[in-house]
Amino acid sequence: MATRIAILISGRGSNMVALADAIKNGTIPNAEIALVISDQPDAKGLSIAEDRGLKTLAIERRGRKREEHEREIVSVMRDERVDLICLAGYMRVLSPYFVDAFKGHILNIHPSLLPSFPGLDAQRQALEHGAHVSGCTVHYVDNTLDGGPIIAQRTVPVIPDDTVESLSARILEQEHILYPEAVASVLTRLTADFTDDSH
Ligand code: GRF
Repeated sequence: MATRIAILISGRGSNMVALADAIKNGTIPNAEIALVISDQPDAKGLSIAEDRGLKTLAIERRGRKREEHEREIVSVMRDERVDLICLAGYMRVLSPYFVDAFKGHILNIHPSLLPSFPGLDAQRQALEHGAHVSGCTVHYVDNTLDGGPIIAQRTVPVIPDDTVESLSARILEQEHILYPEAVASVLTRLTADFTDDSH
């Protein structure tokens, strides 16, 4: 059976598109997108996903406590029989409740070479620290901010006169290669675990 992936976004959705393309062209084999969820109803990525015929859902926070908001998301994930969750520009920190509900099955992509420059504005942080090399990281999500075990990374040079925009664009190009590769490798492991468990 195909692995069912949920993608959580808050904005542009270019990593979501990279994952959807990779599933379509077989770079991520034997997988399907169960749904794309956004906490922002007007996220550009949500309409892109809709145009591609993907199932989409906006689940707004609407003044609720974080865990209440997440209970709704987790319940939808369970209804949709989701096996793997990919955060792709999802601008919220997950609570322990969410992380524990899908332990080892939540991935995130971050635009720096973690553990350097976690949190917001990673590209700006790299420039301000005078880094000569930056890049992107796909990691498992745990209860720390961008601190879970690293799955894969790609590097890019920081060029003299780089701006946040030029560095971000160079990193983003690599993100679109890295995330599908990392998801494919995680699925190989998840499938192996599943096969082992069934003996
Ligand atoms: C990416 O740079 C990703 O690394 C970070 O947020 C950005 C999302 O971009 N977590 P997009 O929405 O996938 O285009």
